[in-house]
Amino acid sequence: MTPEIAAPAVPLAFDVQRARADFPILARTINGKPLAYLDNAATTQKPQVVLDAIASYYTNINANVHRGVHELSARATDAYEAGRERVRQYFNAASVHEIVFTRNATEGINLVAFSFARPRLKPGDEVLISAMEHHSNIVPWQLVCEATGAHLKVAPIDDRGELILEEFDRLLTPRTRIASITHMSNALGTITPVRDIVRLARAKGIPVLIDASQAAYHMRVDVKALDCDFLVATGHKLYGPTGIGVLYGKEAHFEAMPPFMGGGDMISSVTFEKSSWNVLPYKFEAGTPDIAGAIGLHAALDYIDATGLDAIAAHERDLLEYGTQVLQSIDGIRLIGTARNKASILSFVMDGVHPHDIGTIVDREGVAIRTGHHCAQPVMERFGIPATARASLALYNTREELDALGRALQRVREVFA
Ligand SMILES: Cc1ncc(COP(=O)(O)O)c(C=O)c1O
Repeated sequence: MTPEIAAPAVPLAFDVQRARADFPILARTINGKPLAYLDNAATTQKPQVVLDAIASYYTNINANVHRGVHELSARATDAYEAGRERVRQYFNAASVHEIVFTRNATEGINLVAFSFARPRLKPGDEVLISAMEHHSNIVPWQLVCEATGAHLKVAPIDDRGELILEEFDRLLTPRTRIASITHMSNALGTITPVRDIVRLARAKGIPVLIDASQAAYHMRVDVKALDCDFLVATGHKLYGPTGIGVLYGKEAHFEAMPPFMGGGDMISSVTFEKSSWNVLPYKFEAGTPDIAGAIGLHAALDYIDATGLDAIAAHERDLLEYGTQVLQSIDGIRLIGTARNKASILSFVMDGVHPHDIGTIVDREGVAIRTGHHCAQPVMERFGIPATARASLALYNTREELDALGRALQRVREVFA
C-alpha cells in the first residue's frame, strides 16, 4: 500500500520468513488470498514443534499420570512434570510447587478468587481491579464479592488507556484484600507498570495477582523480579495448545489455601468421614490433567526461548510502529489505545462503519482480525464505543501483512463511501 510510509529505523532482529516456515497454517489461503493472521491476541498459531510434541505423546507414550507403575505411565508422568519444570523456568518461579496447571488463565483467576480471596472476604472488604481488565479478571471477583458482601473497586484509566497509578494507589485501602491487575490489556495493548503496582500494594501489605495472559508471549515475565503473589498465563496464546493454563502462586499462599476442586489426584487419603490433601501443586490439580497440553506447552516455551523474547519484542515493536502508520494513513480511522508503553495491538474504529462490517470485508481479502468488545466491555464503555476492530501481532507477522490490512481497509472505505 502507500509506499510513501517511511520505514521506522528499527533493524529486524530475526529472520521472519524463517520463523513463518515453522508455522504450517501460515501457508494457507483464505478466500483465495494468502492468509494474513492478525488475531493473535485471541490465540496464536502453533509451530510444527508443538504439533509434533503433542502427536508424539499420543503416538508413543500415552498413559495416565501419577497413578501407574508401568513404563508408559512413568514416561507420561515424567513428560508432564518436565512441562511444569519448563514453565517454572520460563516464569522464573522458585519451585515447581508454585506452578499449578489449569485449563486456562480464567481458571487460574477463579481458583485464586474462590480459594484465596473468598475465605478472607468480609462484608465491606474490597477487591481492586483496573478499568482495562478482561472479563475473566472481572467476573470471578464479582462472584466472590456478591457471595461475601465485599465491594469491587476499579482503578481508572486515562484517555490514552494508561492506568492512573495515583488513583490505583489511592484505592489501595485498609479494606483491600487483593488487587488483580493485567500486565497488558488485550483491548488496548497497554503495558501496565506492574512493578510499581506490586510495590505500592506490597507497601500496604496487599497481595497482588498479575494477569500475564497477553504479556507472557511478548516480553519476559519474571515472578521473582515482580514479587507478585499470583500470576496467570494461558497456553494457547504462548504458541501452545488450548486447554492448558498456568497459575503461579507463592508457596506459602498455596499451602494455606483450601483445594478449589475435589477429585482424584488432589488427595493423600480419602475416607467417607474425612479426606486429606495431596502436597503442592497436586492439591490444586483434581482429575486427569491435560497431559498433552503440558507437553505441547513445554515445546512452545522452548520455541519462544530458542527464537528469543528480545528478538520477538524488537520485531513486534517494528510492526506496531509500521501498522500504526498504515492505519493513520487511512481516512476516518481512529486508534483506541495510545498508551506510551504498549505492545502488539492495534485497536481502531472507522467513521461511519461498524467494526463487524470492517471484519467481514477484510476477511474476504484474507485478513483475519477481531471485531467486538474483546471480552472487555468496560473498556468500550470507557471510550464511549460499542466495539473496535483489532489487529494483533505475533512473531511471524510481517509488514506485508499490515500492507494487506491497509489495502483491505481502503476497500472498506470504498464500499462505504
Ligand atoms: C488479558 C487477558 N486475560 C485473560 C484472558 C483469558 O484467557 P483464557 O480465555 O485463555 O482463559 C485473555 C484472553 O483473551 C486475555 O487477553
